Amino acid sequence: MSALAATERLLIDRIGQRGDGIAETATGQVFVPYTLPGETVIVDADRAERRQLVSVVSPSAERVAPICPHFGDCGGCAMQHWDLPRYREWKRGLVVTALSQAGIEAPVGDTIDAHGNGRRRVVLHARGRDVGFTAARTHRLVTIEQCPVLAPSLAGAITAARAIADILAVTKKPLDIQVTATESGLDIDVRGSGALSSSRSAALVLVAERLRLARLTRHGEMVARRAAPTVMMGRTRLELPAGAFLQPTIAGEETLANLVLQHCDGATMVADLFCGVGPFALRLAERARVLAGDADIPAIAALTEAAKTPGLKPIDAQVRDLFRRPMIPSELKRADAVVFDPPRQGAQAQAQELAGSRVELVVAVSCNAASFARDARILIDGGYRLTSVTPVDQFRYSAHIEIVARFER
Ligand SMILES: C[S@@+](CC[C@H](N)C(=O)[O-])C[C@H]1O[C@@H](n2cnc3c(N)ncnc32)[C@H](O)[C@@H]1O
Repeated sequence: MSALAATERLLIDRIGQRGDGIAETATGQVFVPYTLPGETVIVDADRAERRQLVSVVSPSAERVAPICPHFGDCGGCAMQHWDLPRYREWKRGLVVTALSQAGIEAPVGDTIDAHGNGRRRVVLHARGRDVGFTAARTHRLVTIEQCPVLAPSLAGAITAARAIADILAVTKKPLDIQVTATESGLDIDVRGSGALSSSRSAALVLVAERLRLARLTRHGEMVARRAAPTVMMGRTRLELPAGAFLQPTIAGEETLANLVLQHCDGATMVADLFCGVGPFALRLAERARVLAGDADIPAIAALTEAAKTPGLKPIDAQVRDLFRRPMIPSELKRADAVVFDPPRQGAQAQAQELAGSRVELVVAVSCNAASFARDARILIDGGYRLTSVTPVDQFRYSAHIEIVARFER
């Protein structure tokens, strides 16, 4: 077969939910990453639904140069090639589409950009001595030298991950190295190495000292600690548990929290469900009593400790599996407002309990438009009105979008 016969020419119609361009063809939809609406492109002519871009014949006027040399190979970013205003409209459209597929009409605001100065938390992968991110939709490692999406406070993350990978390469195990920027320096949790010999552990301690890491843990167990890895949440300083969930950008956390605070204005008692280490609970407690719940034991322990900060109203933080044991209406009867911020699966069981409650105000925070729309449908069927939806973009260049929504009855 000639080189020409192995390619195909397609016209890209629109961008799909995962950031790929979509072409309508006689045999169905074809997905082509790194393309834009209106572009004529040449792709690999195989039978796959997702094709590889060979070249762009007629580039869109909205096409811009990517900010990273690894873009197109590294799977971390999907959308660096689209100008930001159009990209933000597309992100808003993801929310509008998910709601309309659930039969919901609601006022969806403009996307708020919450990239700020970049990601303060990253998971790097190591295979042997190589460190990087995986390519899109495969486990192939793309070695990276730089990542312009990271905040300056994570500048040492790749160097630190390489130093750790060098020591652990002999284990021949794939590693996930989570690096978080804290006030006192980098906080690193290494996963996947298995048990370590005392000489490897000692070598890791030396790396932690040399690179002045705040803390180094392995599967959450302490390897070295130079300083308490702390972050500010509103006026409160919190010591992070190892490997804890944290909103990926500071601007993202502040934007989500400010929207939550605005919606809960005037409430004197708020339930914060799926609270994590408490970025909403600790800010809410500057003005209201809080009932907080999450399944993560170390996160609740950290929140309980931070809640002792003088000047905060009481926070009753409970370890609770809210999928299996959602808060029931009688437990929420004193709450003026309920905030929930579940993982990607959403909060179906909790939404069902809220639907049968008398809580007047529910603020839903979500990182998944599809599960959000499903939970919104449950609340609306239970008598709530969806009065405001705000898309928040803290995963710039990806297909992820956060949502803050207000439900009233
Ligand atoms: C998207 S995070 C939000 C955390 C927090 N609101 C924040 O902004 O940092 C989702 C949280 O849900 C918690 N979670 C996951 N599954 C859970 C479950 N079955 N029950 C309760 N909490 C759960 C996780 O521990 C995590 O803290």
